[in-house]
Amino acid sequence: MKDVIIACDFSSKEATLEFLDKFTGRKPFVKIGMELFYAEGPEIVREIKKRGHKIFLDLKLHDIPNTVRKAMKVLSGLDVDMTNVHAAGTIEMMKAALEGLTRPDGTRPLLIAVTQLTSTSEERMRGELLINAGIGETIVKYASNAAEAGLDGVVCSPLEAGMVKEACGAGFLAVTPGIRFADAAADDQVRITTPLRAREIGSDFIVVGRPITAAADPVAAYNRCLEEFVYGKTDC
Ligand code: C5P
Repeated sequence: MKDVIIACDFSSKEATLEFLDKFTGRKPFVKIGMELFYAEGPEIVREIKKRGHKIFLDLKLHDIPNTVRKAMKVLSGLDVDMTNVHAAGTIEMMKAALEGLTRPDGTRPLLIAVTQLTSTSEERMRGELLINAGIGETIVKYASNAAEAGLDGVVCSPLEAGMVKEACGAGFLAVTPGIRFADAAADDQVRITTPLRAREIGSDFIVVGRPITAAADPVAAYNRCLEEFVYGKTDC
């Protein structure tokens, strides 16, 4: 079940497909975010799907329940494998998202929730959002709300995967960005860990961008992620 998702943070179809063309063996699970989706539209999803990749469509929906239900109904037709909403939209909104995403035959992509963005500090939560609870408490509460709404898991820092599982159960998915190799730069990420450590803490999926997309040999970097995270090899 554990897998590595490559964050395809490219701004055009050409750049994305040129990158994916390098993967001649195993077809990686890929994340398509707002930049690429807004630039290229649903066609980019169909194209990448046609090439045999699983897709996490990372659009982080957050609106009134009725609007989210209808938007999710459209996305369910795109045949992605995973998509997401903001838990801040409330349990009612998450339930509506799930309803909209569920196809007439009962199948649906995995639906996960963003708890607090990793760019939101406790200081900003308190000063701007008037949330006085600690960031850990907020994340666990938002994850519990997502579980209550029937969602499959949350996006969180790999360092938070353990407490999310403790609160919501081992089967509740932890999808974790913020991954760096032990011998690499952190870039702008703060709460980071290695693929191997993310495996040990309990992540189900790691989302890896620059350590693969900006590597001199992206396929080798992807394989290193697989070896550490999926197969637990310590000597990579
Ligand atoms: O390049 P890097 O490995 O930092 O990319 C991580 C990916 O995960 C990016 O697409 C980023 O937007 C996304 N992400 C994140 N932190 C979150 C949610 C999403 O880094 N809390």
